[in-house]
Amino acid sequence: MTTLLLHLLRTPGLTGAFAPSSRYLASAMVRAAGEVSHVVELGAGTGPVTKALRGRLPKASLVVVEIQPRLAQRLRTDFGGLDVRQSSAHEVLDDLVFPGPAALVSSLPFRSLPQELREVTVASIERFLRRVPDSKLVQFTYLPRVPFEASAEFRWQRTDWVWRNAPPAGVWILQRGS
Ligand SMILES: C[S@@+](CC[C@H](N)C(=O)[O-])C[C@H]1O[C@@H](n2cnc3c(N)ncnc32)[C@H](O)[C@@H]1O
Repeated sequence: MTTLLLHLLRTPGLTGAFAPSSRYLASAMVRAAGEVSHVVELGAGTGPVTKALRGRLPKASLVVVEIQPRLAQRLRTDFGGLDVRQSSAHEVLDDLVFPGPAALVSSLPFRSLPQELREVTVASIERFLRRVPDSKLVQFTYLPRVPFEASAEFRWQRTDWVWRNAPPAGVWILQRGS
């Protein structure tokens, strides 16, 4: 049984997927991030998106956040020198300041997260996007609708639909303004 499937059985709301993202979805996430100087990956799991970020944005600073201790430890082992924070995304985000441009690259399962955790996480992402100039959130979701309802000052845009993933997934960007 795969590592992510085991975590799904133990903590379904937090894990939210039975298989790691495909390399096609990981590539689409990195493309959507664009040429940024700073990346924070939220919900790295077993690291397929981390791998694509390290390979394709080698000059960008990278902070990786994973709430589940065993997965965080595995990321440290698999990716030497990686800045892995075993913590909840909102706790890490609230302490980060960058001059920009920056991307939050997230696989967080917003539709299955416990409500309170979802609300504090969304609030913290919005604070980050207000605070950091030229910043964006890149988020995938398996459902054909926006990953979560954001405040009125933010706009969602779907940049990709990746069939070669189980299940297929949409890639979305959230930014301030029109
Ligand atoms: C759908 S899995 C995605 C894993 C991996 N990025 C991928 O694409 O295969 C979601 C991951 O987010 C993590 N997670 C859930 N809530 C979190 C939170 N509040 N802060 C940090 N990580 C979280 C879970 O432990 C899980 O590893």
